[in-house]
Order: sequence, then C-alpha cells, then structure tokens
Amino acid sequence: MVTTREFRIEDYDSAVELWRRVEGVEVAEGDSKEEIARYILHNPGVSRVAEEGTKIVGAVLCGHDGRRGLIYHLAIEPEYRRQAVGKRLVEECLNALRESGIKRALLLVAKDNASGRAFWHRCGWEDIPGALAMGIDI
Ligand SMILES: CC(C)(COP(=O)(O)OP(=O)(O)OC[C@H]1O[C@@H](n2cnc3c(N)ncnc32)[C@H](O)[C@@H]1OP(=O)(O)O)[C@@H](O)C(=O)NCCC(=O)NCCS
Repeated sequence: MVTTREFRIEDYDSAVELWRRVEGVEVAEGDSKEEIARYILHNPGVSRVAEEGTKIVGAVLCGHDGRRGLIYHLAIEPEYRRQAVGKRLVEECLNALRESGIKRALLLVAKDNASGRAFWHRCGWEDIPGALAMGIDI
C-alpha cells in the first residue's frame, strides 16, 4: 500500500536518486542537501513523498513565495505509475498551498517531456500561451 507524507530531509538521498534516474526531471542548482533542507524549512509540510513500506516511490517539491505556488521535481517510480500516486501528491501540494491562501501555482515542463505535459493537462493544468520561461544564475 502506497502512503504519502511530508518530505523530510532524511528522504533527500532517495529522492535525488529517483530524480536522477527518471526522465523529465533535472537535478540542478538549488538541489544540494543544504539547499533542500532550507527549502522545506521555508515551506513546511508542502513538499511530499509517497512510500511503500520504507521505500520512497514518489517525491515532489513544492513551496510558495507568498503570491504564487511552485512545483518542482515530481517523479514517480516507474512501476508505481498510472496508479494515481502522482495526482495524489500534486493534490496534497495544492491543498497545502490553498491553506496558505495561495490561489495560483506554476511549474516548468521540459519541451521534450510530452508524457509529463500530458499528465499535467490531465490534472487540469493549462499551458500559458505567450509566456516564455527565463532565468539567471545569481
Ligand atoms: C508524470 C508522472 C509524475 C505521472 O505520475 P503517475 O503517478 O503515473 O500519474 P497518475 O497515475 O497520478 O495519473 C494522473 C492522470 O494523468 C494521466 N497520465 C499519467 N501519465 C500520463 C501520460 N504519460 N500520458 C497521458 N496521461 C497520463 C493518468 O491516466 C491519470 O488520468 P485520470 O486522472 O484521468 O485517470 C510520472 O509519469 C513520472 O514520474 N514521470 C517522469 C518524471 C516527470 O516527467 N515528471 C514531471 C516533470 S514536469
């Protein structure tokens, strides 16, 4: 039975191992153990994991800046896919954001991640026509 709970820093190694292994997630700047510890401290209870027994089978990072929610690094272990685990984790993230008064959430999907995009559409997310993702290293 797959259960879900908040992401704890003790889950870091398993989560990174999953993120590195699956397609569609890029471990990048901001993903060191210290940085993720700071992130989940800043956004308590909003990032989630799914587990079966003690095995982490899904993970997602989520937080907000007081205005918009952001979701990063949703990944489900391949043999646990299509069992509504991803949807469940995202719903938990969105519920936690709602409880903090956040009304809109955003995420980035790699252009070549057609299946990830299909999942988000199925979960009710919409493309943002006219918007272009930008970034800068600081
Ligand atoms: C995308 C991902 C998280 C989906 O997780 P999952 O647990 O299999 O998804 P769920 O079972 O909760 O599916 C929810 C809905 O999306 C649909 N869906 C899931 N994967 C899909 C796909 N590849 N193509 C089309 N629809 C899909 C399901 O059929 C379901 O629809 P329903 O509610 O009508 O039944 C998982 O495939 C994954 O880890 N992919 C690799 C990492 C990745 O791409 N992450 C997203 C980065 S932006």
